[in-house]
Amino acid sequence: MKYSIVKNEKALDAVLVFEGEKVENKVFEIMNEKGLFLGKEGEILIYRNLENTEKVALIGLGKEKNLTLDKVRRIFFNLAKEMENKKETEINVEIPKLNGMCTRRTYMAALEGMIHAEYKFDKYKTEKVNILEKTVNFTINPLKLEKVEKGLKEITNTMEGVFLTRDLVNMPSQDIYPESLAKITKEELEKVGVKVSIYTEEEIEKIGMKAYLSVARGSENKPYLIVMEYLNDTSNNEKIALVGKGVTYDTGGYSIKPNEGMKTMHCDMGGAGTVIGTMYALAKNNVKTNVFGVVAACENSISGNAYKPGDVISSLAGKSIEVDNTDAEGRLTLADAIYYSHSVLKVDKIIDLATLTGACLVALAEYSTGAVTNNQELFDAINKASKLAGEPIWQLPTSDEYRALNNSRVADIKNSGGRMGGTITAGLFLESFTNNVPWVHLDIAGTAYLSKAYGYLPIAATGVHIKTLVEFLDNGVKCK
Ligand code: BES
Ligand code: MN
Ligand code: ZN
Repeated sequence: MKYSIVKNEKALDAVLVFEGEKVENKVFEIMNEKGLFLGKEGEILIYRNLENTEKVALIGLGKEKNLTLDKVRRIFFNLAKEMENKKETEINVEIPKLNGMCTRRTYMAALEGMIHAEYKFDKYKTEKVNILEKTVNFTINPLKLEKVEKGLKEITNTMEGVFLTRDLVNMPSQDIYPESLAKITKEELEKVGVKVSIYTEEEIEKIGMKAYLSVARGSENKPYLIVMEYLNDTSNNEKIALVGKGVTYDTGGYSIKPNEGMKTMHCDMGGAGTVIGTMYALAKNNVKTNVFGVVAACENSISGNAYKPGDVISSLAGKSIEVDNTDAEGRLTLADAIYYSHSVLKVDKIIDLATLTGACLVALAEYSTGAVTNNQELFDAINKASKLAGEPIWQLPTSDEYRALNNSRVADIKNSGGRMGGTITAGLFLESFTNNVPWVHLDIAGTAYLSKAYGYLPIAATGVHIKTLVEFLDNGVKCK
């Protein structure tokens, strides 16, 4: 999707219509009269006559009081899809000030929606999907032009990160395994100026990440610890770690998954994907912040050497862990990655993202991420960013009753708190490795990989929370 700020007389003209309102436009008047266009939210009607004297896209905005930024994304997603159907490649768009929404964000949302419509994953198809190259020409209030243009550039970069993540998460495990993930991460991120260090199994052993290595042991595909570094704010000493679950395939190990539950488990590096895509977007946008990305990549597999239920393993923190279930592997890898972030990288805040529990899908379906935190202020800031990004998060409760579910008879803690409250106990397992460093855990098991497309999101990988994190980490000038 290309954009410009120059109108093209030959292109379609967007006509934005609130439901039940009249606008002065010939095509609108005819279509509205016939009941063919009512201005309902997301309704799109493209009309171009043979002489090209009439060439419009009627765009339904619904009721003004109901309009939100996320609806703008959906509406413009629909517009781009309809342009594709009608083989229209260019449109002129002017957006009036809407429902108290910030002008810059409204244009960004419109462009974002149109970019979403261009995602495809046809890597493994011999016949490729052909998507028309489209252009949107925005007319922008000159007083707001500079800010809006900056925003358009920013969302374009951020969406590049989102698409990179979707591709990584959609690719199956024979192509994305720890070593290849490390290699691609290095290639993609060093292009944009993020430093990437990769540690081998031997080096991980030296660091002492024993819980992580226990998970990795069962696979022929060796683990690689990937550490990304983007230090771009000299005015500030504060450093943040983004920790992503990087299980490139989760068979469940000896607590093996049935086929139905296993076959999409190449998505179990969805957290890592989001971290990589976020680092990419931050660097491309030259965001003033100091961030480390940490991914303890491995595969949870089975062999004569794999860890087993009942094993007691150690960890970087020195805490002993009873392996109650080898399918609760993500929290073992993350425990070490989180501990590494504050003890070695000395970060001040930690955000982890993980496709951690099936229980999160039971609680929230595929429409909200589950959150657990040890710091309300940090959570509130991330939650605010997630609302602007249109990526909902729902905070779960914590208390000592929940913490006690992780108690082990034989070790310091066990890696499963049982079926009930599974997302909370998984989060609280991680909490015990944070050493009280402000931390937010985002369980993206439901939101990172969809069984069905909805809104502007495609089936399978979404790249969820890259937008949230860029919003949260970018302290630049903004409105609301
Ligand atoms: N990767 C899974 C969680 C998952 C399930 C992600 C469905 C995406 C979709 C995780 O490693 C797992 O297997 N969790 C177990 C934990 C249990 C054994 C305590 C689960 O949710 O069943
Ligand atoms: Mn598992
Ligand atoms: Zn897993």
